[in-house]
Amino acid sequence: MKRYRAFAQYYDAEYERAEMLEQDVPFFLGHLPRKRQSILELAVGTARAAIPLAQAGHRVVGVDYAADMLELAREKCAAVGLRERDLKLVHQDALKLDLGETFDWITIFFNTLLNFTTVEEFDALLAGVKRHLKPRGKFWIDIFNPDLHRLARDHDEHIEPGVFYVPSLDRTVQRDTEIVRDPIEQVQHITYHYRWFDRDGAEHHEKVQFDLTYIFPRELQLLLERNGLTIERMYGNYDGSALKADSPRIIAMVKHSPARRGQTARR
Ligand SMILES: C[S@@+](CC[C@H](N)C(=O)[O-])C[C@H]1O[C@@H](n2cnc3c(N)ncnc32)[C@H](O)[C@@H]1O
Repeated sequence: MKRYRAFAQYYDAEYERAEMLEQDVPFFLGHLPRKRQSILELAVGTARAAIPLAQAGHRVVGVDYAADMLELAREKCAAVGLRERDLKLVHQDALKLDLGETFDWITIFFNTLLNFTTVEEFDALLAGVKRHLKPRGKFWIDIFNPDLHRLARDHDEHIEPGVFYVPSLDRTVQRDTEIVRDPIEQVQHITYHYRWFDRDGAEHHEKVQFDLTYIFPRELQLLLERNGLTIERMYGNYDGSALKADSPRIIAMVKHSPARRGQTARR
């Protein structure tokens, strides 16, 4: 199992023009109550989403296990004048979540839930979510809707090749993506191949490898339910449309499962 660890310095430039990332934050902001909410963002990265949520007046805590991503997030917070009481960044593994408080909202954006590729990891993550979610709180999930045509191929190369410019390094980088699929483990082994040239014309190669699972709607329901959580609403895209076979996303608003009769609430 390889967890996602981005090249922190590439991250913002790399995803700056990704269409879904222009749409996810406005969608979630549109679903937040106007009243100031406490929000926990799991795997906050460079605070791409956390900053606009905090700027909208909510109190955000962002957790990530990558110190270099958090470092960039801190620089960005300082640049826009956000204080720790608005956006607090915590260096912690989301699988061992221990913040000592509960939140109105917990979120995990941009397919990051799929980094947790085994049932054991999923259970550990969701146990943390359950412990940190207020009794009437909402947990938001945003993952891609599995495309059966794509998943049927055991190997894909040269997917969505692209070029991005990284101002902090004054570097133009080409990225090519390769995916090897293991349908038994239900895992995609993803490799980002990066290529760039220095001032002397010398060519450089770097790569990032990580695993991403895929989750079907009924599977999501069952994984949540075995951890005491229930899907309250489900969308297929950021326009608020219902989930259909060809929807690009599975966006789920999740809450605590109602306690069964004779069962004492564990919250
Ligand atoms: C694709 S980035 C998403 C960042 C941000 N949420 C966004 O939407 O732009 C995934 C992030 O998940 C973090 N991550 C992966 N596994 C983690 C874990 N177990 N605990 C905390 N952070 C984790 C990585 O360090 C990385 O910053």
